[in-house]
Amino acid sequence: MRIYFDHNATTPPDQSVVEVMTTVLEEDFGNASSVHYFGQRAKARMDDARSALGGLIGAEPSEIVFTSGGTEADNFALRGAAEALEPTGRRHLIASAIEHEAVLVTLKALARRGWKTTLLPVGQTGIVDPEALSAALTDETAIVSVMHANNELGTIQPIAELASRAHAKGALFHTDAVQSVAKIPVDVAALGVDLLSLSAHKFNGPKGAGALWIKRGTRITAILTGGKHERTRRAGTENVPALAGMGAAAKLAVGKMAAEGARLAALRDRLEREVLAAIPGTAVNGALEPRVPNTTNLSFDGIEAESLLIALDLQGIAVSTGSACSSGTLEPSHVLRAMGLPAHRTQNSIRISLGQGNTEAQVDSFLELLPAVVGKLRSLTGMKKAGGRQ
Ligand SMILES: Cc1ncc(COP(=O)(O)O)c(C=O)c1O
Repeated sequence: MRIYFDHNATTPPDQSVVEVMTTVLEEDFGNASSVHYFGQRAKARMDDARSALGGLIGAEPSEIVFTSGGTEADNFALRGAAEALEPTGRRHLIASAIEHEAVLVTLKALARRGWKTTLLPVGQTGIVDPEALSAALTDETAIVSVMHANNELGTIQPIAELASRAHAKGALFHTDAVQSVAKIPVDVAALGVDLLSLSAHKFNGPKGAGALWIKRGTRITAILTGGKHERTRRAGTENVPALAGMGAAAKLAVGKMAAEGARLAALRDRLEREVLAAIPGTAVNGALEPRVPNTTNLSFDGIEAESLLIALDLQGIAVSTGSACSSGTLEPSHVLRAMGLPAHRTQNSIRISLGQGNTEAQVDSFLELLPAVVGKLRSLTGMKKAGGRQ
């Protein structure tokens, strides 16, 4: 028995996605830029995927630029807007301290090119305070980037409020919506943003496919140059099977999001409640609401998160210690650190992220196993009793 509780790292592609991708690989192999029949078949697959994505986020298909995933979309948003806005003399970028590395490391790269950067703090809620943004905004601010849902905590940021404050100061607003798209309703107009990143493998689509939504009229320079693909906004022969798979996943999400969200929230809430009740010295990190329905981040006193991850893996249960990129490094999570949690909490916390294949029975199995696993690890570290950290 294997249980997969790590859907914020990646999700298994839905069977319908696999079928579409297989068909496109076998039958629609043309280059979407070719004028002939084979090219047009591939192009039709891409048009279909673009419309499906537009339907998922309330966008015009023509405003969607396909990318190789969330990391490229974030890089495109920040580097592309920075390059386009440099002539205005505005050279200040703001992001939250709990962004994904795709944003944080890109900010560092821009800082090396002379950009001023500010990271917005978050309190123990894991939510950015709009007042902190107002305090950081200056007449020099060109771009503000705040993620929609945090990948480690699931907390949802007040994007509409933040975007409106950024706009009042003349800055562009980008949101990394990789962890919210297909989990909760995302509507680009309601969010009021200029740029939005998404990634297919987080919603039962394939890896290596994503998109940047660019509001019409937004100043942005292509970072991948070459042919005239994607209306010269992103050069390179498109990965049509993966894009078709992303389109299929988007259609699926539109149909199932409300019911699946409610199902996962109920599962997650029960899991959380029962862990807290059954195991002393446990806590949930970050605000309980607003959160995406599938995610919880739990702290276990007297335990190293990596040891718990390995012990659970040996029992067939896959969880994570936070972002996939930092697992295996023993680095405490930058998100939990930014929240100002005490040092032990940044190192004793695991993320559980549920998804399509998870069931009540799997949560039962996890809840049956967990107390003994935690008890054993605590006895190894010398923590005999609940709450008695050493
Ligand atoms: C919030 C967030 N942004 C960006 C990414 C990167 O997306 P991709 O894996 O498609 O490059 C991830 C993936 O972990 C993420 O969680």
